[in-house]
Amino acid sequence: MITIERITSASETALGDINTLLLQLRRDPSEPLGTADDLAAITGDKNVAFIVAKDGQRIVGMATLYAATKFGKKTGFVEDVVVDGTYRGQGLGQRIMETLIDEAKKMGMSQLYLTSGPDRVAAHRLYEKLGFATKETDVFRLKL
Ligand SMILES: CC(C)(COP(=O)(O)OP(=O)(O)OC[C@H]1O[C@@H](n2cnc3c(N)ncnc32)[C@H](O)[C@@H]1OP(=O)(O)O)[C@@H](O)C(=O)NCCC(=O)NCCS
Repeated sequence: MITIERITSASETALGDINTLLLQLRRDPSEPLGTADDLAAITGDKNVAFIVAKDGQRIVGMATLYAATKFGKKTGFVEDVVVDGTYRGQGLGQRIMETLIDEAKKMGMSQLYLTSGPDRVAAHRLYEKLGFATKETDVFRLKL
């Protein structure tokens, strides 16, 4: 049985699963993978919700929610949404995102943002099904 949960601690084994997923998500395979310190920081931060799908002990899907307190509102930023290739099309991505949205409500957020490349058709259908709508804006990045 595959379970969906927010995890607040994780092992080195989990880190291997997470990095396997990141390689299926990222366009640039030379980007550094996650470290044990990253994992401890993400799982230990009360302003971050790390949602995973687990098949037994193995993490087969994930999404991360980062909370930002702004003037008058709390906003969430969704990152690193991915399901392992062999587990896609079974509803896991949707279950992960529904759990993430529930957590966002519990954490007092009034809106969620995410960005997604135009060619990520499956992800776009998923987000639209959940009620996300595109917002006209330009995304700027400064690489440091
Ligand atoms: C996007 C992703 C997480 C979806 O995960 P998934 O577990 O396969 O999705 P689900 O089975 O929960 O599908 C939920 C909905 O998403 C949409 N969807 C999923 N796969 C799709 C596909 N191949 N084509 C079109 N729509 C698709 C559908 O609306 C589907 O609902 P439906 O089954 O009622 O039609 C997965 O395809 C993935 O990891 N892709 C690579 C990484 C990626 O692009 N991440 C998003 C970065 S922004």
